[in-house]
Amino acid sequence: MRLPANYNTLETPYYFYDIELLNSTIEAALKACSYNNFRIHYAMKANANSEILKTINRHNIGIDCVSGNELKKALKCGFNSSDIVFAGVGKNDNEIRLAINSNIHAINVESEEELEVINTISGELNKVTDIALRVNPDIDAGTHKHITTGTNHNKFGISIPDIHRIAECSYRFKNVKIIGLHFHIGSQIDGMDTFVAMCNTINNVQSNLLNKGIVFKHLNVGGGLGIDYNNPDRNPIVDFNNYFDVFRKYLNYPHKQTVHFELGRSITGQCGSLITKVLYTKSTSRKRFAIVDAGMTDLIRPALYNAYHKIENITSTAIKLRYDVVGPICESSDCFGKNALMPETKRGDILCIRSVGAYGQVMSSQYNLREPARAYYSDMIETINHR
Ligand code: LLP
Repeated sequence: MRLPANYNTLETPYYFYDIELLNSTIEAALKACSYNNFRIHYAMKANANSEILKTINRHNIGIDCVSGNELKKALKCGFNSSDIVFAGVGKNDNEIRLAINSNIHAINVESEEELEVINTISGELNKVTDIALRVNPDIDAGTHKHITTGTNHNKFGISIPDIHRIAECSYRFKNVKIIGLHFHIGSQIDGMDTFVAMCNTINNVQSNLLNKGIVFKHLNVGGGLGIDYNNPDRNPIVDFNNYFDVFRKYLNYPHKQTVHFELGRSITGQCGSLITKVLYTKSTSRKRFAIVDAGMTDLIRPALYNAYHKIENITSTAIKLRYDVVGPICESSDCFGKNALMPETKRGDILCIRSVGAYGQVMSSQYNLREPARAYYSDMIETINHR
């Protein structure tokens, strides 16, 4: 694991990003998809830190946005507007106007009513706007219920029967052009079976539409590829070959169709760590606590999804004991790990919470009027390899 050389004198808590790992991860992803018409869009929602975005943009990949501000930031960081896709179940009129005027690759449309609004606004602006219809394929991704998006209990996308109906009467929408179909069924998916099931559904939807003479220029299969939170050192980069092979093998797409992927977590997840200092330790008759200076305001995933993040005490090698690692926020859910096995820990020790590069800093808040934690980058400071 790479760390700042002066990791124990920097003011804590802070995020540390291993930029070399981020670069190698993107290179691995690009290499694995460098055949056919595959195109990667980084899902900015995973981490919208400007330095991270600038690094990603150097690889010349596309971007997936879910708000007007993300779209503005993508443009500001130098992403080509023709490589931007814009999803979201509740885009407001200003965001739609911005997307239309920016001439992005496609707006991913999540309801018929939204389609009507885009058509109207596009008409007002004298434009014909490229859009993709987001399909809700009613597939359970088998991941945490808060990050499952593709079943008919979820608010996302348009049901398959409605997709048919809309595609068949697309002539009604004079100011939009339906160029693609979009799918995204959930996040932190670790079994390839789920992606195979999604490919099968996509094949059915496409062939049924094709029978009616409806063809799309692109398919967008979303993101969702999970990372190994248990073994970040053993598996710092996910097996992108395995992932893209699923689509190569199971997805039927006409020769000229481009296939777009919206990868978030698998790109930035493992390159980020949250470094925090132990303020106090204490015990009850049932528990031993390590109270640290980072809180759920800096990383909400454990509190929100019961998510596991590996926690390492990087300044102690004493015998291992079990701790609940908790933050200073006035909520019992402000807990980074229950019964985490760590070397005996004392005030002043430095802990490293791993795999926080996706949905970490970007989901931070200032609850309790906390100061936002700073970020450091391995390409800007001296680093060491720790253990
Ligand atoms: N495309 C769409 C339409 C999405 O909604 C998402 C994630 C992605 C792509 C990227 O998915 P990824 O490759 O990162 O799995 N905050 C949660 C994750 C929420 C994911 C939201 N959508 C977490 O911390 O686990």
